[in-house]
Amino acid sequence: MRAPAVTDPEQAQREVLVGDGLEWLAASELGPESALVTSLPDVSEFPGMSVEAWTTWFSQTVATCCRAVHPQGVAIFYQTDVKSDGAWIDKAHRVHTGADAAGSACLWHKIVCRVKPGLRTFGRPAYGHLQCFSVARRIPNSLASPDVIDGLGVMTWSRAMPSSAAEAVCSFLRRLETVTTVVDPFCGRGTILAVANHYGLNGVGVDLSKKRVKKARALQYEQLLADPDSA
Ligand SMILES: C[S@@+](CC[C@H](N)C(=O)[O-])C[C@H]1O[C@@H](n2cnc3c(N)ncnc32)[C@H](O)[C@@H]1O
Repeated sequence: MRAPAVTDPEQAQREVLVGDGLEWLAASELGPESALVTSLPDVSEFPGMSVEAWTTWFSQTVATCCRAVHPQGVAIFYQTDVKSDGAWIDKAHRVHTGADAAGSACLWHKIVCRVKPGLRTFGRPAYGHLQCFSVARRIPNSLASPDVIDGLGVMTWSRAMPSSAAEAVCSFLRRLETVTTVVDPFCGRGTILAVANHYGLNGVGVDLSKKRVKKARALQYEQLLADPDSA
């Protein structure tokens, strides 16, 4: 899907910092104009950490993200489940656990089809989870959008947020009307920031990796769609 820019993307700003996303959140005050949109690191990104320790970290970090947004703001998470020793780690459940601890309610839960329905997958599931939470904001039925997203679109790397999910999120945020800025404290190569700018939303990203921050600063929407491998 190639979406038209909602406002002049040239006007949208982007800032991407090298650093710890949680430290950055602790030092920042997000107003109602900011939406937090992120994908938290998988257990495989923490060599040496046990699944149990990661599970705790994951839900606590979701809670931190939900508390960091303004009560009228939203926190949105894209996550794909993984298997550990033959048992699924249901990340949607872990996200919900963290959001519950923060007193944040689920506004919607979408499924992103990673392969065509009916096909078998091995090791990773055929779907990803896209979940939106808010402490005080509630949305009318008129803001409903599809709960099942057919396909990933493109991805710049295996851990990237799919462009289809980023488009669905930014389209929703534009319709909320109060949001002007997308914040991603674990921004990786900056998929959501590039899509946000294309939709006329500002983007603020943080990542520990200097290499990925460099890419996130440079990534453009057109390049993302045309040549994701080079992004
Ligand atoms: C699942 S990836 C995010 C991918 C991103 N959505 C994209 O489209 O490229 C998680 C990212 O979190 C980063 N990371 C891990 N721990 C972090 C921390 N404490 N603060 C900031 N970034 C961190 C990793 O470097 C990695 O790029």
